[in-house]
Amino acid sequence: MIISASTDYRKAAKAKLPPFLFHYIDGGSYGEHTLRRNTEDLAEIALKQRVLKNMSDLSLETEIFGEKFDLPIALSPVGLTGMYARRGEVQAAKAAEKKGIPFTMSTVSVCPIEEVTPAIQRPMWFQLYVLKDRGFMRNVLERAKAAGVTTLVFTVDMPVPGARYRDMHSGMSGPNAAARRVFQAMRHPEWAFDVGLFGKPHDLGNISTYRGEPTKLEDYIGWLGENFDPSISWKDLEWIRDFWDGPMIIKGILDVEDAKDAVKFGADGIVVSNHGGRQLDGVMSSAKALPSIADAVKGDLKIFVDSGIRTGLDVVRMLAMGADCAMLGRSYIYALAAQGQAGVENLLDLYDKEMRVAMTLTGAKSIQDLNRDSLVNI
Ligand code: FNR
Ligand code: LAC
Repeated sequence: MIISASTDYRKAAKAKLPPFLFHYIDGGSYGEHTLRRNTEDLAEIALKQRVLKNMSDLSLETEIFGEKFDLPIALSPVGLTGMYARRGEVQAAKAAEKKGIPFTMSTVSVCPIEEVTPAIQRPMWFQLYVLKDRGFMRNVLERAKAAGVTTLVFTVDMPVPGARYRDMHSGMSGPNAAARRVFQAMRHPEWAFDVGLFGKPHDLGNISTYRGEPTKLEDYIGWLGENFDPSISWKDLEWIRDFWDGPMIIKGILDVEDAKDAVKFGADGIVVSNHGGRQLDGVMSSAKALPSIADAVKGDLKIFVDSGIRTGLDVVRMLAMGADCAMLGRSYIYALAAQGQAGVENLLDLYDKEMRVAMTLTGAKSIQDLNRDSLVNI
């Protein structure tokens, strides 16, 4: 078994959460092949050990879009975060701020934008999904601007949701889902009181604020399928490009030609991502996709990467393959579910320590020093 802080927090999250929530986080689409590849391919990448290079003053800092990051890490957008911990988006944003990195709020968060931004000083990032109701897009972008959001992360790999069969089995969707969820909550009393009872309201906060009434979460998966827009194309992005003055990152790029199109379009960044193996099962891992994308577009825009990152060593591997910044999904969500804000802060401290050891022993004093020479088999 692989030992890492993420693995330990995953175990703790599994014990604490009702199964329908744990499996929604933990699962991937179809046979979960891409989900597995994401972590396995990363672990295969060998770091090159170098010694005796006086590594006493080592820095993990970086600057992206004029923002200083204490670590080359950002938190990826994750839907329903407020179901895994009480007002979870607020707790995650506070942890990110404390560790000097950005938090990205999902469109389908529980807390609305207006609940999170007053709790932090650091500007938040916001992830946008295109809903069929286009009035929502203008509304949410205006609200994001008003709340001081600096960076927009536009996710393009979910025009339709991938089939997540675990959700059908776990009670997230499928027959008698509502009754099964109540039963599961009763068997997880710590969660039932802390989040189920005192963490209310449970709805899609950003969308409820727009519609003026709570969106129900009884059939969340069905809701995604009904409201996400499969007609989305580069044209939709142009309107947003004109409307949004700040940096815009396109999330969900796995192909060199798409990465080049993102440069042509004028994106400020891309996230090399397969959505954590939750969308098209069978596609390659981010670790395998990254090197050729970096060869094609490095320097033209900022390269972010997620899917499968579980340790500080994984961050070092991704940076050495050409990423400017890593993003964490499940890794931080497990910690948040297990221990709230303190868990995420502790996890980020461990990433910091792991990165320092890996950089000391690969002879990289700063993240700019990490490149393919830091690796053996790439
Ligand atoms: C996600 N992801 C995601 N992405 C996004 O752009 N908007 C969203 O609302 C969500 N929601 C979401 C929920 C859950 C429970 C998970 C696990 C993931 C994808 C996320 O941003 C990221 O791409 C993956 O989590 C990265 O893979 P790892 O690191 O989790 O393996
Ligand atoms: C998911 C969506 C919400 O991966 O992005 O479940």
